[in-house]
Formats: sequence, C-alpha cells, structure tokens
Amino acid sequence: MEHLMAVILAAGEGKRMKSKKAKVLHEICGMPLVKWVYQSVRKAGIEDTVIVVGHKAEDVKEKLGDEILYAFQEKQLGTGHAVMQAQDYFANKEGYVMVLYGDTPLVTSDTISDAIRFHKENNNSATVITADLDDPTGYGRIVRSGDGSVLRIVEHKDANDEEKSIKEVNSGMYCFNISDLREALSELNNNNSQGEYYLTDTIEILLKKGKNVRAIKVKDSDEILGINDRIQLAKAGEIIRNRILQRFMENGVTIIDPASTFIDQEAEIGIDTIIYPSTIIEGNTKIGEDCVIGPGSRIVSCEIADGVEVKNSVVLESSIDSGTKVGPFAYIRPGSKIGKNVKIGDFVEVKKSIIGDKTKISHLTYVGDAEIGKGVNLGCGVVVVNYDGKKKNKTVVGDNCFVGCNVNLISPVEIKDNAYIAAGSTITDLVPENSLAIARSRQVIKEDWVIKKGMLNKEKKD
Ligand code: UD1
Ligand code: CA
Repeated sequence: MEHLMAVILAAGEGKRMKSKKAKVLHEICGMPLVKWVYQSVRKAGIEDTVIVVGHKAEDVKEKLGDEILYAFQEKQLGTGHAVMQAQDYFANKEGYVMVLYGDTPLVTSDTISDAIRFHKENNNSATVITADLDDPTGYGRIVRSGDGSVLRIVEHKDANDEEKSIKEVNSGMYCFNISDLREALSELNNNNSQGEYYLTDTIEILLKKGKNVRAIKVKDSDEILGINDRIQLAKAGEIIRNRILQRFMENGVTIIDPASTFIDQEAEIGIDTIIYPSTIIEGNTKIGEDCVIGPGSRIVSCEIADGVEVKNSVVLESSIDSGTKVGPFAYIRPGSKIGKNVKIGDFVEVKKSIIGDKTKISHLTYVGDAEIGKGVNLGCGVVVVNYDGKKKNKTVVGDNCFVGCNVNLISPVEIKDNAYIAAGSTITDLVPENSLAIARSRQVIKEDWVIKKGMLNKEKKD
C-alpha cells in the first residue's frame, strides 16, 4: 500500500535566536513553532510523523509528547543530513513523504494537501513548495530554465548576483516519492559554502536522473515565513494572531481592537460576545455567548458561561457561570468555581473557592479555600484568614448569610445558613443558623476626655 508520512526537521540550534531554548520551542500563541507545523501536518491527514531532533532533543521531545516518532541527529550537518537520520522510518516503505522544517509555523494544512495532490497528479518524483518574496534575502532561490522548469535550488550564501535577484524562494517544504528520496540522499555531498548536506541538492540530483521535479507556488507567501530570529518570530506571531482573530470574527465574535487582543488558538468563544481592547485569552478557555470581556483582562484556561462580564480583571483556571459580573480589578485564582449571577467587584481576590449563585462580593475582599453559599453578601473588607502560618484551612459560609464589613473569618470556621455577622468581627467559632454573631469589643465613651486632658482648641504644633 502507498504510505504517506511526514518528516519535520527540528534539530538545528537556531543561533540567530540568541536563546537558551531550542529554536523550534519558541512559542506563538501558546504553542511551540514545531507544533504549529505538526498540527498542519495532522490536519492534512498525515498520521505518521517523524520529527528529527538534535539540539536540546530532550526538551523538544518532552514538549511534543510520545504520540510522535523521533529520529536523532547528533551533529547538525545540514537539512539533507537531518532527513538521512529519519531514513530508518521509511527504509522499507513505498509511497510519499512530506518534508517540512520545524521553523516554518505558518504553513496551512491546505497547502500541504494541495502539494500532495499536485505531486500525485503529475507523477512527480519531487515537488517543492515555493513562494515569491519581495525580499528573498536568506532563502534558497528556485533556479528555472528558459522553459520555466525547475533546475535546482541555490542557497543564498552560495548564490551569485544573478541568482540572488531571483524572487522565487524555497519554502523548505517538499513532497517526495519515498524511493526517489532514498536514492537522492545516498548521493548527497557537502561541497558548498557551509560544508553542509543540503536537502535542496536532492532536487538537482533527481533532475539529472531524468525524474519529474515540479514546484508549486503558494498563493499567500506569509505561509512560508521561516523563523530564524526574534524579529521573524514577532512577525509570524502577528500573522497567526490575526488569523485566529479573523476566525473568531467570522464566527460572530466582536473584537473591538484586534491590534491589542491576543487569543490562543484553542480558545472557544460564542456568538455576540464582545472583546474589548487589551485583552488576552489563553489556553483552552471556553467563553459562552453574549459575554463582555475586557477591556484589560487576562483569562487563562477558564470555562465561562453565557452572559458573563469580566472587566479589567485576571481569571486563571477557574469557571464562571452565566450572568456573573467580575471586576473591575478582580483577581480570580486557579481552582475557583463561581456560580450564576454572582458579583465579584473591585479589588476582590478569590482563590480556590466555590461561590454560590447570586452571591455578592463587591469590594476589597479576600476569599481563599472557602465555600460560600448562595445569596450571600460579603461586605467591604471581609478577609477569609485561611493560612495559620503552617497550613491552609477551609471556611464554609452557608446560604443567605450576611457578613458585615471588615470581618475576619479565621479558618477553619463554619457559618451556617441565614446567619448575620456584625461588622468588624473576628470570627473563630461556628456561627449557628439564623443567628447574629458579634465578635468585637464594645465601644467605650469617655465623656469630656479631651477637655480634661486640656487639649481642646490647643494649637497644633508641627
Ligand atoms: C532552509 C533551506 C532554504 C529555504 C529555507 C526556508 C536548505 C539547505 N536550505 O534554509 O533553501 O529557503 O530553509 O526557510 O535546506 N535543521 C536540522 N538539522 C540540520 C540543519 C537544519 O534539523 O542539520 C532544521 C532546523 O532545525 C530548521 C530547519 O532544518 O528547523 C531549517 O534549517 P535552517 O538552518 O533554518 O535553514 P535555512 O538556512 O533557513
Ligand atoms: Ca530557517
């Protein structure tokens, strides 16, 4: 049977990144460069992928996981040499192999599928994906003969002035017949300015054998942008972000200012939700319909139901149920579960807590490791004192409780349903159902104290 597989080259160091990290692990919208390539390969229906790792191999493998096959290139002797290291995986196979570079994250699955179709339809031995670039600096150039057929690929560093003026460049993506690739690799040498085994030389080798080699040009040259430095990383990031934002807008989400909005690709957002400027939505966040998110909010890996507002706030790894309003200036930390129609107001921090439906926590409050019931009102300045210096303790507040301003709830402690707590109380013991707890010293009045001290109308000295 004809096999279809992909080899992704990701062994290079990427010196121009000037980084401690492997180049292909630099991220765009929360995903490493090489994973963007892998994702497009998968979407194009290729199930068998080998990634050639070398520089920081362990890091790359750890990040990508073990559903993928790996080949190891000990020394980075060039892209051709890198593909040779993957040869064991296609030694006994017949069919097609797509070769891609781990530093070209913008390639789409459509482009990969188109190249494979074009390759098969024309009975090609090799198909090169190319693009016309206004500024082809750094890329390999596609040299064509008078009749327009491909002759060879010449690397920028090896090109003469005439070749340098060619605008059509090699994307670093190819489809090969497996048997022809095997044959061409066996004839590669490293006679070039960099002393490397160039994969690009396989093109000329196959042509000299009288094989069919054709190029297919992408419509959108952005797709072949190779990331060699941080400037290109930022450029590719911008393109990917815009693609993602465009998809959301096409699907019914209003984005007021795309230039200041960052949304990771796995996020899901329902129709008629409005995203205000300076908002970052990360991870596999799900946001429902009719929400208002931002301005100035960051949401990481959250589940947010319909009709929720999150303004000028940070919400991490938590869920928020429908109709709830958060912010401005709230901080919801991981492990929190906020119910329906809740209000979490300004300068409120909630950590690993459950907040029941219709509860109001309007200002200046800390709630940590607590379970707050339904219809509760936590007044301004309530603090759940969850940490005793050694460990975190839990507080439980029942339904419909009213906790006055500036109350400390010393955990572990329990407040039963419908209880009231007087403002300024420090609560250390259980408060029974339907009761009022007052835990503060009584007010004392010392009449005429000021006069007796001889301090009335005395001029204040600085
Ligand atoms: C390469 C192409 C060039 C093309 C450009 C497109 C060659 C010789 N040149 O140049 O024609 O226009 O990509 O972006 O192929 N790698 C390894 N092992 C190695 C060397 C590289 O795995 O020994 C990997 C790198 O990790 C990288 C990819 O191959 O992901 C491309 O390598 P890079 O050095 O960036 O090639 P370019 O000089 O950009
Ligand atoms: Ca490159």
